[in-house]
Amino acid sequence: MNESFQALVLDKTDDHLHAKVTDVKLDALPKEEDGNVLVEVHYSALNYKDALGLTEPGKIINQYPFIPGCEFVGKVVESDHLDFKAGDEVIATGFGIGERHFGGFSQFAQVPGNWLVKLPKGMDMRDAITIGTPGLTAMLSIDALESAGVRPGEEVLVTGATGGVGSFSIILLHKLGYHVIASTGKTDSPYLQALGVDTVIDRHELEGAVRPLARQRFDAAIDSIGGATLANILSQTRYEGAVAACGLVGGSDLPTTVYPFILRGVKLIGIDSVMQPIVRRLKAWERLDELLDSNVLNHMIHEIPLHDIPRHAEAMMRGELSGRTVVRIHD
Ligand SMILES: NC(=O)c1ccc[n+]([C@@H]2O[C@H](COP(=O)([O-])OP(=O)(O)OC[C@H]3O[C@@H](n4cnc5c(N)ncnc54)[C@H](OP(=O)(O)O)[C@@H]3O)[C@@H](O)[C@H]2O)c1
Repeated sequence: MNESFQALVLDKTDDHLHAKVTDVKLDALPKEEDGNVLVEVHYSALNYKDALGLTEPGKIINQYPFIPGCEFVGKVVESDHLDFKAGDEVIATGFGIGERHFGGFSQFAQVPGNWLVKLPKGMDMRDAITIGTPGLTAMLSIDALESAGVRPGEEVLVTGATGGVGSFSIILLHKLGYHVIASTGKTDSPYLQALGVDTVIDRHELEGAVRPLARQRFDAAIDSIGGATLANILSQTRYEGAVAACGLVGGSDLPTTVYPFILRGVKLIGIDSVMQPIVRRLKAWERLDELLDSNVLNHMIHEIPLHDIPRHAEAMMRGELSGRTVVRIHD
């Protein structure tokens, strides 16, 4: 194996960030204390977090030079971890990868084995990265709602509907037989119907003044917006319904009261995909494999080479991208 490889290296001079594809020595890859696994990366994906790290100094990434990329899929080359051997196909998301630990915008990555999930048998690597963090977050949200007693046939609201987490939530809920209500800023977009939405509402309906309790409209919800939107959802969730909160696109505050909880028994469940224990990740990935097929995923992909990441990060920050931006590592 060559002693050097190519990666997108982000550096900072005088508060100015610059990223370019550069040769990196294999021994520059960080090693944790034990159980390290070296992976030849096939695909990564550009997430909002990566775009922020690539365009705003000190946001997300605090050490330079650095290899970003919060998630990657590839094949194991060398392993000091008993659960992995050369040739295994694996996915890595979360655990600070691409934030504090060199990430996936790179031909090789090295992480502890207990950060890795083996791909379900037969799952294609490109499909796996398309699903990635948003798909995993949506699946974990649905698992949490079901553990709280929500069942197919019930009406589930999905906010941020055309976004990554929102789109996967809709596809999965529809496949499982839920009635999906999508809250969106793009009410006339045909995209949502194609995903399997039953009812579309304008997101402004959930952004107004918050009443402690309002008409019970939803059996459950997956919310990636937070702020007044989440507070309004809690007021409008039916008796003993459940709400999975996973994002803060609309703000990190939560201007609610205790009434939805103490008078209606509404359950608010926090979802975190980053530090999620491996056992629950494995279960979620098995379920994602059962529920999603390549045809649906192919419609969501915009594929780019490694050197095109900086340009796309800027476009993402301007809100110009949609779907999943998959990074092809080898040309
Ligand atoms: N907890 C976790 O582990 C986890 C994992 C992944 C992501 N997240 C978080 O989840 C959130 C969504 O992530 P994502 O990847 O789905 O993001 P995304 O692809 O950027 O989608 C966000 C969606 O929110 C809607 N939106 C945009 N600006 C808005 C605003 N000002 N007010 C209300 N809605 C707005 C838009 O959908 P419409 O146009 O359809 O309204 C947009 O497509 C983020 O906060 C992210 O940090 C958390």
